[in-house]
Amino acid sequence: MPENILIAIAWPYANAEIHVGNLTGSHLPGDIVARYHRLKGNKVLVVSGTDSHGTPIVIAAEKEGKPVEEVYKKYHESFIEVFKGYGITYDMFTTTHSENHFKVSQAMFLALQKNGYLFKQFSKQWYSPSANKFLPDRYVEGTCYICGFEGARSDQCDNCGNVLEPEKLKNPRAKTGDGKLELRETEHFYLDLSKLEPAVKKFLEERAPHMRDTVIGESLRKIESEGLKPRSITRDIEWGIPIPTEEPGWETKKLYVWFEAVIGYLSAPIEWSQVAGQKGAWRDWWINPDAKQFHFIGKDNIFFHTSQWPAELMGAGSAFMEFFAGEEVPLTLPYDVPANQFMNLEDQKISGSRNWAVWCLDALTRYDPDALRYYLTVNMPENKDSDWDWSEFVARNNNELVATWGNLANRVLSFCYKHWEGHVPDVDPASLRPADLELLATIANGFSTVGAELESVRLRSALGEAMKLATAVNVYLDVNAPWSAVKTDKDGAAKTIFTALRAIDSLKVIFSPFLPFTSARLHGFFGYETPLFGEQFSEEVTDSLGTHTVLRYREVGRDTISPYWRPSELKPGQRLNQPGPLFKKLEPTVIEEERARLGN
Ligand code: MF3
Ligand code: ZN
Repeated sequence: MPENILIAIAWPYANAEIHVGNLTGSHLPGDIVARYHRLKGNKVLVVSGTDSHGTPIVIAAEKEGKPVEEVYKKYHESFIEVFKGYGITYDMFTTTHSENHFKVSQAMFLALQKNGYLFKQFSKQWYSPSANKFLPDRYVEGTCYICGFEGARSDQCDNCGNVLEPEKLKNPRAKTGDGKLELRETEHFYLDLSKLEPAVKKFLEERAPHMRDTVIGESLRKIESEGLKPRSITRDIEWGIPIPTEEPGWETKKLYVWFEAVIGYLSAPIEWSQVAGQKGAWRDWWINPDAKQFHFIGKDNIFFHTSQWPAELMGAGSAFMEFFAGEEVPLTLPYDVPANQFMNLEDQKISGSRNWAVWCLDALTRYDPDALRYYLTVNMPENKDSDWDWSEFVARNNNELVATWGNLANRVLSFCYKHWEGHVPDVDPASLRPADLELLATIANGFSTVGAELESVRLRSALGEAMKLATAVNVYLDVNAPWSAVKTDKDGAAKTIFTALRAIDSLKVIFSPFLPFTSARLHGFFGYETPLFGEQFSEEVTDSLGTHTVLRYREVGRDTISPYWRPSELKPGQRLNQPGPLFKKLEPTVIEEERARLGN
């Protein structure tokens, strides 16, 4: 039975371009796991979108002196370019600024309210008399009252990772130079997380056995040490989703960005159903206790995904569907939240403002996407922070990707193409020798070992296992030396080449979640007609808020009934296509060239 897998990836804020740290933090691991499950024949839906509301976006617009709408759209379009360029196969990459997301978020709010999990309360917030407005969240920076970090934002500290209460921030100052600040009373809605704490705790304990220690540890520790406290879910801000209430006074306020952005995991599948013409299909991932939902996020987002979002889902419960679709059914909870740590760059924190970053679109102008995907995977910050180092990038590209895998595929295919006139040698598989069968058994076993690593989201280890298998094929070829045997024992050489081709054909599939572009090319060299993967495309969606672009994915001619995640059955005598190299060797001079770009 195919499983329903929801790959839910953190929604990037529309206030900066995407750099390699963002890519390896969430989008790339999500895509790798998604591609694996597609190859297995599971029903996969990959969703995310631009986090278009909140102070980060408003501040970016103020700085650029442009309307918020224009700024969010500019970044949104550039995100879509990045994901196309790197092959991040979103079924639906949309935006929180859509009519659908507004409706779903408001339905969640109403469901939580109906179930008694919301209350209203006055609190003191930072107010700028000169600008004549409240300055919520990132508008105000100051010293963290928990760890003493001086660059804390009023809602969150990037140093200790805690979510903060704005009025407690020390030495507050306005980010946009709005002069002196004072605390003023304002009324907001609160989500009563304390009432939901036992349910969240139970949920986390159930998930603990298959979740990363870093993630479950932080989540449970937080609950045990300080408990879940009510959190305000509305803000004094113009840009965002209106609060669904008829009461006067709330027109100038909006839903808090962290309350509504996570709801995107539910609204994006609903939008996908509408746009893809599969009405109601989102239910297969959302109203299905057997569906598995994976959340790919960075470590700074753990609380929102392991505690606040499950709390919203459990608190809204079946009432959500009542508001949304007039029926009562519960929603599926996350299965795993494999949050990544951070990637640094040449031993320093990545920083957009100092241009200490490798920008994704820029890197693509000089390197192939699979070379970048490879390095970002072997170096993924799964359990601790990692470091992008240009000399290591070159070394691993040349010594592993090119030397171990690329040359193997190219050498065997070119040799076969030349000596067997563009065909797979016509060898009867029943006539293979013990050493041939042994190699093929090792490779076949790779589908379960690499598969198991992918299923538990240990992607570095999965790719390492795959590379070991490529080494095993190289060793086999060294021993059997078909290059010379072809002159003395063409039958024996044919068996070796046939065996190596089947091994490479299998490795092509095993590598393909990580290296989809080159695996697709290799698939073509083998002469297959049905593609390995589908295709990405974007389209425009028009609603009452205007028009937004969405990035999508569709299968084209792929046989989903007989999935690809299984050992090669390459046919003797199959016609091949002219092969070519898959990867490029990099000159060591790029190391200094790239380092010189940093910080300027
Ligand atoms: N925009 C947030 C960030 O970049 C992530 C939001 S994830 C969401 O840190 F699910 F809430 F959207
Ligand atoms: Zn702090």
